[in-house]
Amino acid sequence: MRKIAIIIILMAVLTSCMDSAKVYEIGVAQCSKGPWREKVNQEMLAAQHLYEHDVKVNIANSVDDPELQARQIDSLAQTGLDLMVVAPYEDIQIINDAIARVLKAGIPVVSFDRKTSADYTAFIGGNNVEAGFIVGQYIASLVKGEKEGEKPLIMEITGLLSSTPALERHIGFEEAMKALPEVEYICRKSDWSSDSSCYYATQLIDSLRRCDMKRLDRTFIFCHNDGMATGVYKAVVEQNVEGRIKILGIDGMPHEGLEYVKLGHQIGTYHYPTHGEKIIRLALDILTGQPYERENPLLGFVVTPDNVDLVTTESVELMRQNDHMVTIHDKLEAYFGLYNTQHKVLIGSFVAIILLLVAFAMMWRAYVQTRKAIKQRQDLNVEETLFYTNPDSRRLRQVFETPQEEIPTPRSQDTIFAETLNETIRKNMSNPNLKMEDLGEEMGLSRVQLYRKVKAITGLTPIELLRQMRLQRGYVLLTTTTKTVNEIAYEVGFGTPGYFSNCFKKQFGKYPTDVRADK
Ligand code: FRU
Repeated sequence: MRKIAIIIILMAVLTSCMDSAKVYEIGVAQCSKGPWREKVNQEMLAAQHLYEHDVKVNIANSVDDPELQARQIDSLAQTGLDLMVVAPYEDIQIINDAIARVLKAGIPVVSFDRKTSADYTAFIGGNNVEAGFIVGQYIASLVKGEKEGEKPLIMEITGLLSSTPALERHIGFEEAMKALPEVEYICRKSDWSSDSSCYYATQLIDSLRRCDMKRLDRTFIFCHNDGMATGVYKAVVEQNVEGRIKILGIDGMPHEGLEYVKLGHQIGTYHYPTHGEKIIRLALDILTGQPYERENPLLGFVVTPDNVDLVTTESVELMRQNDHMVTIHDKLEAYFGLYNTQHKVLIGSFVAIILLLVAFAMMWRAYVQTRKAIKQRQDLNVEETLFYTNPDSRRLRQVFETPQEEIPTPRSQDTIFAETLNETIRKNMSNPNLKMEDLGEEMGLSRVQLYRKVKAITGLTPIELLRQMRLQRGYVLLTTTTKTVNEIAYEVGFGTPGYFSNCFKKQFGKYPTDVRADK
């Protein structure tokens, strides 16, 4: 049993050593859906096997619901992860408190794309002040290129201003507008929805239609993302002024902003960087104790009708590569799963084979021992048969049945043994506590040796022989002396006269008192 336990422990140690490569668990609290969010999520998933350590990325999406995001942050933190990436929906107490709890639990937090007033371990994301400013400058270049005429009208429709990208894009854009005194700049504070931008655009077209329809051709609407820009495009189509108002957005995704610039729906967009792989790199640097920057700005650029084809080709190609990496990752995961199962089956089979070998060895040992025992038993039987059939042996038995005075002349080793035993028993028989060990010791034999020898010679066990000799001696004393039955019982070593009488009756068919009466 001990051997089996040692083998199993060794196997367990072996298996655990083989599985010891650390995989870091990274939870992502994503705040919204849409092409831009999907792209960054895909990039993070594709980077799971990209670096020197594997990571497991687990994404929870709260789809523009700050309360849900706070709950998701808490539950992600409870999954035992190593680091959390948070793209906070907005700078709001409930989310800030949840982030603070994560940090307090000792889990590093990487704030991504948006910031809050809560503390964080590191930040990575686009430079939104710069984004707003560059888009403003691009509009300025377009205004300057236009023919002299009516004062240009520039409308900015913001994203949710409690989220840092919207606030910063607004700051940057406003700054760029300050350099354009010759334009009329108006700002509408909104959320990230296309419905709200559609509403503001419709309002503007309505008012221009009423006073100065021609001014539509010198109007620019800048939305804080391309999704909102689609709302503006919807309004211009509905109002039959398509191609007159110039629309701009931010994000520059292949099937969104880039496509709209290509189609001429938008005059430009800003490529707002995603770089999910850089988020995972930063996370790994933090987790493995490598040096890292606390602030990690990502670079973007303006996409215009001039460079949109090139940017689209590049972006589509990059996204295709990324998709391939995700496919490779999924396949790798499937292979790892298979490998792990096979690995376990292999170890299991190995353990089973070892256990079978041990069991077989034990069975073989038991078989050999049983065979030996049977052989000994058979030898004993032969000896016994010989003893009972051989006239010499019958004589030997008589040694114990004949009073000492009539012992025949010794003739063999067995006879010598029988005589010595007879003498020893007779000498000690009055001791009611006589033990077989003591008897054996006096004969120079172990208890087992004594047993075997006595059994072989007499066919009786030493105890049976002793009892029989006590009773025979008792018989002789009853018939040859005047000692009482009680005295005789004690003399031949019975503890109680009653027991002596019972054994006597069994042996001779009569009670000692009857023998005495017959005398
Ligand atoms: C998506 C999104 C993007 C935008 C970014 C700013 O939720 O609105 O379109 O550029 O978030 O955080």
